[in-house]
Amino acid sequence: MSSLREGPTTVVRREDYTAPAYWIDTVELSFDLDPAKTRVLNKMRLRRNADVPAQALRLDGEDLNLARVLVNGAGCSFRMDGNQLVLESLPEGSEPFELEIFTTCAPEKNTQLMGLYVSQGTFFTQCEAEGFRRITYFLDRPDVMASYTVTLRADKKKYPVLLSNGNLVEEGELADGRHFAKWVDPHKKPCYLFALVAGELVAREQRIVSRSGTEHLLQVFVRPGDMDKTEHAMNSLIASVAWDEARFGLPLDLERFMIVATSDFNMGAMENKGLNIFNTKYVLANSATATDTDFANIESVVGHEYFHNWTGNRVTCRDWFQLSLKEGLTVFRDQEFSMDLCAEPSARAVKRIEDVRVLRTAQFPEDAGPMAHPVRPDSYVEINNFYTVTVYEKGAEVVRMMQTLVGREGFAAGMKQYFARHDGQAVTCDDFAQSMADANPASDLARLLPQFKRWYSQAGTPRLKAQGVYDSSTRSYALTLTQSCAPTPGQSVKEPFVIPVAIGLLDAQGGELPLQLAHWNQPEAGTRSFVLTQESETLTFVNLDAEPVPSILRGFSAPVVLDFDYSDAHLLTLLAHDVDPFNRWEAGQRLALRLALKAIQSEGALPAEPLDMAFIEAMRAVLRHPALDAAFKELVLTLPSETYISEQLDVVDPQRVHAVREAMREQLAQALHDDWVWAFEAHRDNGAYRPDPLSTGRRALTGMALTMLCLAARASGSPVWPGKTLQRFKDAGNMTDRFNALSALVVSGHPLASDALARFHQLFRNEALVLDKWFALQAGAPDRGGDVLPAVRRLMSHADFNLKNPNRARSVIFSYCSANPGAFHRADAAGYQFWSDCVIELDAFNPQVAARLARALDRWKKLAEPYRATAREAIARVAARTQLSNDVREVVTRSLA
Ligand code: PHE
Ligand code: ZN
Repeated sequence: MSSLREGPTTVVRREDYTAPAYWIDTVELSFDLDPAKTRVLNKMRLRRNADVPAQALRLDGEDLNLARVLVNGAGCSFRMDGNQLVLESLPEGSEPFELEIFTTCAPEKNTQLMGLYVSQGTFFTQCEAEGFRRITYFLDRPDVMASYTVTLRADKKKYPVLLSNGNLVEEGELADGRHFAKWVDPHKKPCYLFALVAGELVAREQRIVSRSGTEHLLQVFVRPGDMDKTEHAMNSLIASVAWDEARFGLPLDLERFMIVATSDFNMGAMENKGLNIFNTKYVLANSATATDTDFANIESVVGHEYFHNWTGNRVTCRDWFQLSLKEGLTVFRDQEFSMDLCAEPSARAVKRIEDVRVLRTAQFPEDAGPMAHPVRPDSYVEINNFYTVTVYEKGAEVVRMMQTLVGREGFAAGMKQYFARHDGQAVTCDDFAQSMADANPASDLARLLPQFKRWYSQAGTPRLKAQGVYDSSTRSYALTLTQSCAPTPGQSVKEPFVIPVAIGLLDAQGGELPLQLAHWNQPEAGTRSFVLTQESETLTFVNLDAEPVPSILRGFSAPVVLDFDYSDAHLLTLLAHDVDPFNRWEAGQRLALRLALKAIQSEGALPAEPLDMAFIEAMRAVLRHPALDAAFKELVLTLPSETYISEQLDVVDPQRVHAVREAMREQLAQALHDDWVWAFEAHRDNGAYRPDPLSTGRRALTGMALTMLCLAARASGSPVWPGKTLQRFKDAGNMTDRFNALSALVVSGHPLASDALARFHQLFRNEALVLDKWFALQAGAPDRGGDVLPAVRRLMSHADFNLKNPNRARSVIFSYCSANPGAFHRADAAGYQFWSDCVIELDAFNPQVAARLARALDRWKKLAEPYRATAREAIARVAARTQLSNDVREVVTRSLA
């Protein structure tokens, strides 16, 4: 397989960027689609780029069979240099010339799902980042933008629907039962946004009229039989179109906008111009088969891909180092979209907490590990490895800080400026930041722009240390903020960041205090935002009768770790009273974390009951609180994850972390038993299913209550709640309640679980996405005496398992290796052995998926023995293979460095 290489790999560096030597103005592609041998005719009009020295044309290609090359209709000389097709003797001067390239490829053999491939008998393409070169020879780089005309020809019976980007201009019959369709994209685009789909599909359709009065056709294409799962995706698309117009004045620029779902997809979805291709997981949903989480994910991914139409497609990236230009910005936009769709402010806060939780459990470890890289990386071996939480989620936080610094309206003005300057161009992160600053000349962002941009260039999570000193003689409180950032690979010294710090002060009873700095005349109530630019600065608040409780970094105003030596009493006050929901939640997390760390670091045997009464009572008060939302309660009552706890330790014994967290959870289950009963009874009936934030929150809290009650029953031996849970599992009117009940039985390890699992499988054996949940639940179950790994092996020999399908592979292997640390890190190293076998096996046919899995051991250096040594051995075992993809090679090499 050509993607598996031996020998040295090339490093691509950002500083080496040069403009392309040629421009491609137009592309006419004709496809004769056939799974075994597809013929591709590519007619391009090119011209030399007068700004760079004259040189040969080097076209990228991969896994292609080249049949013919014509220049201006005549044969010409060419040579191959590795994967590149090199044409030396092209017409001189700046006149355009025509280049015709005829190739064939074998879509049915394409297991890496990059380029043109077949999924369940339907043709799909995936071109980002460098997949177009697997379809034809091309300048496969985002700064080459061309106009596309695409003709598809295929057997009409097997492939009745033929789609590509833009507008359908012609279709008709051909001989031998074949037919054709011709599509013209009115917008220029880089080749990574090219797409085609051909197969038997049906569409939900909706005509909409935009604010400005233009008409559009929206379509969601799925396999026949899946139509009853398309309503939510369509509604999300309609809401996305309306939101981008209302919030940013950005209209839909196409007559027709299509979404197509495929069950074989490496990622979540892809923003191809006018023809988004989605993993079925982010399209298909109805109340019987999808959970509340699925509904929310679909809304945000549909939004995300739609928003790319402006941030990514109309303005695209100059080179792949600029990936966060489109991804960070578009994640920020989809987060804002989901928040703006929330009717209640409390639901917005819940969304914010969930987003921060993702950042802290996935991105902070990345930033502290061997793959740490800046939001705008400086080098890569394989660009696929840089579709990361740093580029996406930290990138979104950087954009969010810009909004904080210029204000919501200033941000909208900055977006306007960005499109006024750069519409139709391929640009850089600098260009975006400059537009924001120029549209807001009096802002902190404009004043601090060069320093602010360190967020793009420096990797690592900054630490913000805060220290408060109250002086009763001057009635003042001095809060000193000090920032630092640990070295990351290739960056030993860090310069100070621009850190927006939102602060409030509370009195001992939890009331908001007016904030008055020494040099202000007027105190101001509520949250104030400060901008830390120095390594250390002190804020002196005056007119305070007693030492305040500081609420620092409200709303998580910057992606940093905040160190403040809170007393338990301070945290309890914040948990009970802070008006900032984020910090209110955070206070509970800090208390839980503190107790977890204390138990983990205690000498000798583990304490059976790590929680103290104060914590339990505080949790009871939140659970029973008359005014708080169920969704918020569920977040507060959820203990910090094992991954998050482990990140706070220098040396990690994963078994000890697991045991402590489980003990904490069981203690919470038992100590609050009657409160869990109340919570279940008070929230259980939600009427007809609607995936809105309020009823979603009620279902989340009921689900948590059931898990807790089953855990408590495990200790007491009482059959009551497991029995009720099984009944709820059977009677449930929607997938969320049904799955939560099933999960409660599995998580508590109750004997009823196996029956329920069998029944669930029987009920949903024809629903691939539901089966993924069934697999994932078992592979992610709490380990009891090492029983999960054998279960995982059994699941992988189950008739419904298929390693080639990324969703199914992830549902078992990733759920075990990446999401179940207590089961994965085994003293006998069998988990690591399993991991290395899977990485190697996956790499032979799908390097992208393999490289993601390879990252499950990123943090091996933190592990205590014997885990550390055996994890290293497992990584070395993978690295020692001569046949490895660039993708996996880069990950394991960096890991061992
Ligand atoms: N650009 C896609 C997104 O963020 C992600 C993606 C990358 C999908 C590479 C496929 C391949 O929406
Ligand atoms: Zn994206």
